[in-house]
Parts: sequence; structure tokens; C-alpha cells
Amino acid sequence: MSSPEPIKFTDGAAYERFMAPWSRSAGTLFLDWLAPRPGLAWADIGAGNGAFTELLLAKSAPSSVSAIDPSDAQIATARQKFAAKPVELSIGDAMALPYDSNRFDAAVMALVLFFVPDARKGASEMVRVTKPGGMVASYTWDIMRGGTPTQPLWEELDALGVPAARPPSADISRFEMLKALWADLGLREIETRELVVERTFTDFDDYWLSMVVSSPSGVVGKLSEAQAAELKGRLRARLPASVSGAITVHASATAIKGRKAA
Ligand SMILES: C[S@@+](CC[C@H](N)C(=O)[O-])C[C@H]1O[C@@H](n2cnc3c(N)ncnc32)[C@H](O)[C@@H]1O
Repeated sequence: MSSPEPIKFTDGAAYERFMAPWSRSAGTLFLDWLAPRPGLAWADIGAGNGAFTELLLAKSAPSSVSAIDPSDAQIATARQKFAAKPVELSIGDAMALPYDSNRFDAAVMALVLFFVPDARKGASEMVRVTKPGGMVASYTWDIMRGGTPTQPLWEELDALGVPAARPPSADISRFEMLKALWADLGLREIETRELVVERTFTDFDDYWLSMVVSSPSGVVGKLSEAQAAELKGRLRARLPASVSGAITVHASATAIKGRKAA
């Protein structure tokens, strides 16, 4: 069996349907927990189509946000949102940030660190660009304990023998790994938090469109008709609908924050 294609985010509008509502729910809990003061200069790394950046603007009154992502399609969608806002958008990689050292009051990755091929390098770049005393924080889906919203889809694809790709650094979603990394990078005042969210879909078709058709793994689009029908049947059976037909899916994330030594 050939290995699944790596996950790529190449469509800002599809991301809006697929993951942005999840990002907003979990991102709100994350930001409430970070409790930043207003007026900070932020680096939002792996900003994608700007779903978390919008939260930063709405809830944290930043002085500026520098948002970066390797996907030009995601950044193009973000550009439309932030035309008149204090947001600097760039295309680039978390493992080699195009920013001076000690520039930002806070550096964050929202649902990103597990996609960075070398998570340690990505986190160390966040530390480098943060001012002494500044905050370095991240959250990812709790993949290793089945917390990603895509877990039902992944498990049913596994059962069909056509596994979807997992993020390359899924292991960093473990609290022990996160705490060890943050400590190893010399961060202080390290705290972690579990973020638990849910999303209700109007009906099964709403779920299918969001989680399957828009899924960045691409694997579902390549299924035969029979395989797609079987996948639908399996997902319908494991995701019970309410009387109105609505389907609620749960997810959980692992978050970490720390401060660069002053
Ligand atoms: C799940 S999305 C999160 C987007 C946004 N932060 C949010 O909360 O909605 C993951 C993002 O990580 C980006 N990404 C993947 N590899 C990356 C890397 N090496 N450096 C920076 N961003 C990366 C992807 O392009 C994608 O936009």
C-alpha cells in the first residue's frame, strides 16, 4: 500500500468550511487562558487563512500582528480579511522565521506545531524572535489521545484500509513532550491546559461536507464510489444524530505557555 500524501493546506475557503470553526472555538479558550494584556506585538506563526489572527485582533487589542504561513493560498485569503488592520502577512516557514531576534512580546502557534517537520526548531524560532520576558505559547489537537476533530474520519479510513496522513510531528501534542521541549528551550513559568470543544453540524451532510469533502488530506476524493458509500455508512453509524438530525462532534487540544527569561 502506498503511504498517504502529506497534509497540505492549499485552499483558504475550504479551510473555512473544514477547520476554521474549530479553530475559533479552541482559539477562544486558548486566548482566554493566555490572558494577554493589550498593546502587545504578536507573531502568529502558521496563521493560515487568519482564523486565529482574527481572534487576536478581536480579543487582545494588539499593537501589531505579524502573521506567517508557507501556503500562499491561505495567506491570499487572509490578505482579503486584514486589508485595513495592523497585520503584516508573509509567506514563510516556522523553522526559519524572517524576523529579527527579540522583536515580539508574544509568539504563538495555533494548531501548527504538530505540522512543523522539526517541532523543536519551530519552537526555538518562536523563542528567538520573542523579547526577554515575552510569552511563547502553542496549542495543537491532542492527536495521540484521539482528540482531533478528524479522529472519527481517520479511524474509519483506517478500517477501510486507506489511511489518511497524520501530521508529521503528532507526538508533540503530548503534554510530557511539550513540557520537556519548553523547559529545554529555557522557558520559565511553564503552564499547560487542556482545551475541550465541540461543534454541532446541522445534519450528516453538513458534517460530511465539512470534514470529508474539505479535508486537506485529499484521500476521500480518491475513494471509489463503493468505498465512499461505505465510509459514509460507517461515519453515520458512529456519530449519532439528535431528534432534529444534528450531529455533535467533540475535540480536545493540549496547550502550553511559558516566558522567555528576562
Ligand atoms: C490547522 S492550520 C492552523 C491555521 C491557523 N493558525 C488557525 O488556527 O486556524 C495549520 C497551518 O500550519 C501551517 N503550516 C504547516 N507547516 C508549517 C511550517 N513549517 N511553518 C509554518 N506554518 C506551517 C499550514 O500551512 C496551515 O495553515
